[in-house]
Amino acid sequence: MALSEQYQDLLAQIDPAKMPRHIAVIMDGNGRWAKARNLPRTAGHKAGAEALRRTVEICREIELPVLSVYAFSTENWLRPLEEVRFLMRLFIEYLHNEVALMNRQQIRLGFLGDKDGLPPAVRGALDEAQAATAANKRMLLNIAVNYGGRDELTRAVRKIAAAAAQGGVVPAEISEQLIGDYLDTAHEADPDLIIRPSGELRISNFLLWQGAYAELYFTQTLWPDFTKRDLLTALLDYQGRRRRFGQTQEQISKD
Ligand code: FPP
Repeated sequence: MALSEQYQDLLAQIDPAKMPRHIAVIMDGNGRWAKARNLPRTAGHKAGAEALRRTVEICREIELPVLSVYAFSTENWLRPLEEVRFLMRLFIEYLHNEVALMNRQQIRLGFLGDKDGLPPAVRGALDEAQAATAANKRMLLNIAVNYGGRDELTRAVRKIAAAAAQGGVVPAEISEQLIGDYLDTAHEADPDLIIRPSGELRISNFLLWQGAYAELYFTQTLWPDFTKRDLLTALLDYQGRRRRFGQTQEQISKD
């Protein structure tokens, strides 16, 4: 095993009492990774799919309940048509190839985003993979495609307004809990940790509502280079943070 792939030392440092319930990752830097190697951007995305495989594997290994990854935003349609087409094919290929492994590892596939705006072949592959893994209980892997946090909130508001117009929702009773129930992540834990590789210090419209109290972790590493060690390093950094949720440190220490 190459040195970069060894991670037992980091595994041994994990505090089981401080495990996040949900990690979210903005998979960024594929293009720059490819450019640095004089390769087409598509080669970066292919290597990005490998990084995703590694990340899913290590998350399953540490028994993380939920992993969400940002694969394609509502704004990514503006990219060159060839790149968009390549990414859509890559998503389909990944879904077809990974289902058997997901079943072996008891991973259920979830989806975040507006499925109606996806090409039928991608929608079909997602539906198929979700149905094939629906009974798996050990981990939920959410793939965000055609996802935008503002778009998700807009869709939720439309549904709530429609329910209110029908009398099913009373406006005065609209609560944070109810809004959460109308989001793509309904009934899932909010992300505790959001990781963004590639040196960009932005949230880029990812899990805007759910990430209200998430700890943010940024690294210069480009996504295709992201290893299991990188994931564990982010996790250990998270475990060293003091989460206060708006309270004072004294209040937290008393609990
Ligand atoms: C952002 O990097 C990345 C994307 C828009 C695509 C993400 C897709 C993958 C990681 C492929 C694997 C995913 C699945 C679900 C199989 P960028 O291209 O914007 O990089 P740059 O900022 O360096 O140009």
